Amino acid sequence: MSAQQPNELTLRIAGESGEGIITVAESLSRVAARMGFHLSTFRTFPAEIKGGACMMQLRLSERPLFHPGDFADALLAFNEEAIRANFDSLRDGGILLYEADIEAPLPRREGIASFPVPFHRIALQEAGNLASKNMIALGVLAQLYGFPIEPIVHLLEEKFRRRSKAVMENNRKGLDAGIHYAQQHLPDHFSGSLKMLPGPPKLVMTGNEAAALGALAAGLDCFFGYPITPSSEIMEYLAKNLPRVGGKFLQTEDEISAIAGVCGAAWAGRRAMSATSGPGLSLMSEILGLLSMTELPAVIVDSQRGGPSTGLPTKTEQSDLLLAVYGSHGDAPRIVLAPTTVRESLEVIVLAFALAEKYQMPAIVLMDQALSSRLETVDADILSNLPKFPPTEERGETPSEYKRFQLTETGVSPRVFPGTPGHEHISTGLEHNERGEPEYDEWVHTIMSAKRHKKLAALARDPLVSGLSSMFGAEEAEIGIVAWGSTYGPVTEAVELAIAQGIPVKALVPKLLHPLPHGELKAFLASTKKLIVPEMNFTGQLATLLRSTYRIPTIRLNRVKGVPFRAVEILEKIQEVAESAGRSRPEPELLESVGANRGES
Ligand code: COA
Repeated sequence: MSAQQPNELTLRIAGESGEGIITVAESLSRVAARMGFHLSTFRTFPAEIKGGACMMQLRLSERPLFHPGDFADALLAFNEEAIRANFDSLRDGGILLYEADIEAPLPRREGIASFPVPFHRIALQEAGNLASKNMIALGVLAQLYGFPIEPIVHLLEEKFRRRSKAVMENNRKGLDAGIHYAQQHLPDHFSGSLKMLPGPPKLVMTGNEAAALGALAAGLDCFFGYPITPSSEIMEYLAKNLPRVGGKFLQTEDEISAIAGVCGAAWAGRRAMSATSGPGLSLMSEILGLLSMTELPAVIVDSQRGGPSTGLPTKTEQSDLLLAVYGSHGDAPRIVLAPTTVRESLEVIVLAFALAEKYQMPAIVLMDQALSSRLETVDADILSNLPKFPPTEERGETPSEYKRFQLTETGVSPRVFPGTPGHEHISTGLEHNERGEPEYDEWVHTIMSAKRHKKLAALARDPLVSGLSSMFGAEEAEIGIVAWGSTYGPVTEAVELAIAQGIPVKALVPKLLHPLPHGELKAFLASTKKLIVPEMNFTGQLATLLRSTYRIPTIRLNRVKGVPFRAVEILEKIQEVAESAGRSRPEPELLESVGANRGES
């Protein structure tokens, strides 16, 4: 059990990709959800399919969780590298379970108990093959922490049902051997510590699965995509499930074709989307501009990873914000949203479709690897409580002289799908007049640019986005935090810890990032004196947006380690800022290449 919270447990399992680390951690996660626990996980793995460091952490608790935890109660490591890379993540009083074959001297720390376990030898002797080594680990952890065995066996049977009978038989032997070893050789003071919780079992899903489910719930007609880590799971889910509900799925030859498909489908009046990661979004930028120019709705999910270029394909980062907001030639308005939890990954996709259609422009949904691939529990009511919005509608109020790009108060024009008699019109990437006819005189470009951007102003006032930001913490506080995306989880915990230490702090996490929710942000900024902006990017992209929009200094806290923030990293920044309270606010500095991720700017 964690020293901090009762009936809470954080386990970290580490080894090489290909050793079945994910299978162990996912099995325990799914069983914990069936026991009624809330759950949050984090996985980090190499770009290679086999070999290279792989780790998954799971944290379960009686209370809702949106962060996989700063420190682990137990680390199970299959090799020396896994121990060295993860030893510091053990909390004081934690335990290390490691492969007994490792001969190298191991790191030590007072308060950490270490137990060698012959995973390798037991797998060969008891299960007859090395592939079942992870089952020994699963059995050991299940026995130590009191996970029920029967549901684990059911999960494994389901997982390996397409494999030969021998695979499950060997794995069952491995699981039993792990349980037996723990009973015989490991201290029993951890045993039976997890209690079944009252209430219905919870659903457990990844952010990517939630996003794909959200797209189905929103009535997605067509998906076009090209696989790319860490977003591919969205595509895989929709490849299987979209045709089942009558939708069309197409894997294209690249991301340019994918967005072109989305654009064509949207033009024909279909609800269309794609999902990609940063490199794919870069490729899509030209046709994103065409969607803005032709005023067509579309939803693009960008599951961010470390960049630029191929960067860190399997690691998390939040460095595509400015690309999402501005990445285009010309002035190309688009909506940018960022969910903060797995549940919200579903809800925000539904909202993205609603806004894209209402304001006839592309909506980009920014997720990140940590959110996309983390397992989290969600209540089973998730689908019944979705925000409702009407099906794609045509609005042809002016049949006598249909103007597809008619100037209106909100900038939103009547949209009638192609092929409707009396509503023939031209759609082109060239600048055009209200009827869509190419026209490039200076006034047309000025008026139509203003018309397209007016829609963003109308959207910012829309009740659909009012109250969308999460606000929490002390009511009165001089220190404020503005964060976005999956950083929400560690921020909530840092704020809780700071308040427990007597430091008043409050936080605002907007889900609408473009246009910014001015009403909520202005009131929040006016009520604080120091503003910390923690982001998983090097240059402080949200901080840049806030500074340029509201002309306020920000205290940046930037990390590009490929892993989520620890709550304590944010807490330390809060403490540092609290200690400097009363000192005059430093003058804004120019961003320096190395100092950019430190201090106030
Ligand atoms: N008996 C039989 N098979 C087992 C097993 C056991 N005891 N334990 C695990 N396996 C199988 C799993 O079913 C899985 O097979 P599947 O992929 O056909 O389902 C496979 O072994 C890997 O096990 P798993 O536990 O899922 O993962 P792992 O911890 O070994 O890590 C990955 C491997 C998943 C991280 C790695 O294969 C991967 O996909 N890397 C990412 C590659 C990528 O995205 N690159 C980016 C390109 S830009």
